Order: sequence, then C-alpha cells, then structure tokens
Amino acid sequence: MNPVSNSGNNENPFDASSFVQRSIQSIKQQAGQENVICALSGGVDSSVTAALLDRAIGERLTAIFVDHGLLRKGEAKQISRTFNSFLRGKLITINARDRFFQKLQGITEPEKKRKVIGREFVNVFKEQAPIGEESGFLAQGTIRSDVVESGQGVESRIKSHHNVGGLPKELGFKLLEPIRELYKDQVRLVGKELGLASELIERQPFPGPGLAVRIIGEVTKEKAELLQEADAIVCREIEQSRCEPPVWQYFAVLPGINAVGTKSGRRVYGPVVAVRAVISTDGMNARWAPLPHDLLERISTRLTTEIPSVTRVVYDITSKPPGTIEWE
Ligand code: XMP
Repeated sequence: MNPVSNSGNNENPFDASSFVQRSIQSIKQQAGQENVICALSGGVDSSVTAALLDRAIGERLTAIFVDHGLLRKGEAKQISRTFNSFLRGKLITINARDRFFQKLQGITEPEKKRKVIGREFVNVFKEQAPIGEESGFLAQGTIRSDVVESGQGVESRIKSHHNVGGLPKELGFKLLEPIRELYKDQVRLVGKELGLASELIERQPFPGPGLAVRIIGEVTKEKAELLQEADAIVCREIEQSRCEPPVWQYFAVLPGINAVGTKSGRRVYGPVVAVRAVISTDGMNARWAPLPHDLLERISTRLTTEIPSVTRVVYDITSKPPGTIEWE
C-alpha cells in the first residue's frame, strides 16, 4: 500500500496561496466585528488555524491552551513559549492537569475516556470564556480526517475526535473551522504559506486526548509520566536516525500489561512498552514502518536501561486498516 497524497495532482494541484486568501476573506465575513477564541493545542492543525485567524482578525483573537497533563515531555512549556511570542500576548495558558487526572480516575473504556476529556475541556472553557450572546466565535483546528473518522452514525464512527462538535453548542459559541475541508498534507502547505516555522509545521500529529489514548486502561499521573519518558526516548532515536522513507508518526504506548524481566540478576515485574511508527500522508491509511533493526535495538536498550521498571519492549506491526494509528 502506498500512501496517497491529497495535495492534488498535475491536473488539479492544491493551491495553498489561494486557499489562504479565500479563507481570510471568509473568516472576516463570518466573524464580522465579533471576538474569536481559538482552542490551541500546539499541534499543526490548531497552529495553522490560529495563524489564519491572526491574519484575518488580528487583535480580536484570543487563543486558549489547556494543559491537561497528557502532553509529550516538555511540550506544554514549549507551546506556551512559542505561541506567546507568535501571537504577541494573545495566548492564555491554563494548567488543568490535576483536574483531568481526577476526572479520568477509574475510566478504562476508550470512547468514555475521549468523552470525559472532551467534557472537561468544555468545563475549562466555560470557566475561562465569556458565555452567551457576547461570546462570539470559537475556532477549532478540525480537519477532514477528524470529521470522517468521527462519523455521522454510530456504525461509521471509528473514534470520537474530541475537537469535533460539542464545545460551541454548550457554550453558546458560534463555530469557526477554517481548515475543516483540508487533509493533513494540505494543512502543512497552508502553514508553510503562512510562514510558520518548519519545526511547527512538520510536527507529527498528536491526538486531542493526548497520552490518554496511548495508556490502555486507567490513566494515572504516574503512568503518564512513565509514558512521557518512554516516548521521549522513542522520538529522539527515530528523529536522529533520519530513516527513509520518512516515518510520519511515531510514539510509545503503555499497553497496560506487566511482564517478568531480569535486571542485574534480580527478578523484575514491570510494564511493557509498545513502540508504534507508521508511514502515511494523511492518517486515513497508514503502513507500519519497517524500522531498521539496529534502531529498534537502540530503542529497546534505552527503554529498559533508562526506565528501571520497564521489563519488555514490543514493536507494533499493524497497518491501518485494519488497525488504527492510535491504540484507542
Ligand atoms: P487513528 O488512531 O484514528 O488516528 O488512526 C488518525 C490520526 O488522527 C490522530 N487522532 C486525533 N487527532 N483528535 C485529534 O486532533 C483526536 O481525538 C484524535 N484521535 C486520533 C492520530 O494521532 C492520527 O494522526
């Protein structure tokens, strides 16, 4: 299976520059003189959305970044720093870590986790944003694959992407989703057109519910911290290896099982870490990445030596379909 690009073909190429012009006009028309709040996750989609809004309505934009404690290692600080300067002070950062972990207590079912996280986002927004008539617009970085995979009916729903629907209705916001029709590779072209830094545009996708969908079973602060450490090792090794073809998305997963191991001659019973790496262009289809064996070996060695409790490392060799990219 070859990943298919959505960036057009020779007959009908995607024109990022004219998309930007059209989108700015359309945002101006829709928003009129009202204020717009943008839900910023620091990922490619919401960053491009914020940049489009910044161009279209400037001072009437406020971006809100909710740190739910389920981001990658060091990411929350990095997002706050980057966007504070990029949006010239129009960013509000909210530390909501403890309350998200509290809400996730005892929840193991994947769709329920997603719903709980989506709902808590609503609660945080409710506390931060003006409600009712004056609340104006809420902008979200929803893209085409989010909409397709959230499905209309229960049978067609693969996962409830937590940025699709929900928020604006409850808050009395009108919804702005300027990149809803775009696929991921088109979003990146638009980001480039808007002059966003390449490390931002080329960032691998990250799900709205964050590490919660990579921790199978109950999510706890301790598991999230362990996964952050494991994920940082996986990411660093893959990034340094510059493998070909380029890997589209890569991360660590905690499958929620323990295994027996032996370290320094002693029995250890601790968590298994799964490594996931896929090749794709838009996340709709994906092929498991045939990572070089020496790279896999380095990842395995580092995970089991640098994280004392980890006893075993497995590599996920499932493509999409039949699997999905995230484990939940
Ligand atoms: P799946 O796991 O459905 O993921 O094959 C496809 C792509 O979407 C990302 N993903 C999400 N992105 N909100 C998002 O913004 C979500 O709730 C969400 N769930 C999955 C996933 O990382 C992959 O790139």
